[in-house]
Amino acid sequence: MPAASEETKSPIVSLRGIEKTFDGRPVLRGLDLEIETGRSLVIMGPSGCGKSVLLKHIVGLLRPDSGEVRFHGQRIERMKERGLQPIRRRIGFLFQGAALFDSMTVRDNVAFPLLETGQAGPDLEDRVRETLDRVGLADTLDKMPAELSGGMRKRVGLARAIVLEPEMVLYDEPTTGLDPIRANVINDLIVRLQRELNITSVVVTHDLDSAFQVADRMVLLHRGRVRMDGTPDVMRHTSDPVVRAFLEGREMIDAPDGDSDAGVQGSAEPETLGT
Ligand SMILES: Nc1ncnc2c1ncn2[C@@H]1O[C@H](COP(=O)(O)OP(=O)(O)O)[C@@H](O)[C@H]1O
Ligand SMILES: [Mg+2]
Repeated sequence: MPAASEETKSPIVSLRGIEKTFDGRPVLRGLDLEIETGRSLVIMGPSGCGKSVLLKHIVGLLRPDSGEVRFHGQRIERMKERGLQPIRRRIGFLFQGAALFDSMTVRDNVAFPLLETGQAGPDLEDRVRETLDRVGLADTLDKMPAELSGGMRKRVGLARAIVLEPEMVLYDEPTTGLDPIRANVINDLIVRLQRELNITSVVVTHDLDSAFQVADRMVLLHRGRVRMDGTPDVMRHTSDPVVRAFLEGREMIDAPDGDSDAGVQGSAEPETLGT
């Protein structure tokens, strides 16, 4: 597809001025973010900064105190559960921990979303097999989760997240707890699914290796907002001290909020950085 039409595509998700406070403690503080269709966005930030909270706003599992959440332009932040259900079916969610039903076989775990949404037709078995095949686990149909390694369980969770053929998949820390080899398998899968199925991927991680492997675009959350937004190359070469501290694994410095608005946030051009 020509680049021009890519650029004019409307965002699949748009978050505007999201504020969310828990027990008097602000977590999201006027967060703005647009998610482009068909690309992979990585959301980074230290533990506890609000990454999972942000993902849950995208599917209406959490509601903002103020601000707007749009899915294909439609406001969803105050939508009733009934209205949200069809939207959630279009979004796969691989939760942190990727909990499977321990008492069900792999087949039944992956079939679950189809059954739950009344889509269990005569092709059920085929769809389950095909989906497991996509994650390289076609031979585990009759296994129980406890018989699988941590990496395989994640992949079953991933199969369950994509079995309804979603437009977008949200991955919450998909490689946490995996050794580097198994983490790479997951990273490769995320990239492959995005390309083969044209899925929009949103990957939350604090694992930098994963982040750089899967991202078309990266954002760094800091103090409840997007501190930095750009390609992996822009991120790598930035001189923003807060971003550098994060990339180098140091404590993130508390720079004044004003700094984040002065040409760093939202910049996509390397030459506008570090000035
Ligand atoms: N449902 C909730 N009730 C109260 N506090 C919450 C809830 N969900 C998240 N928080 C708090 O919000 C902050 C951000 O959490 P989270 O988004 O899970 O962080 P992370 O960036 O590690 O994913 C944490 O301080 C967490 O304790
Ligand atoms: Mg989290």
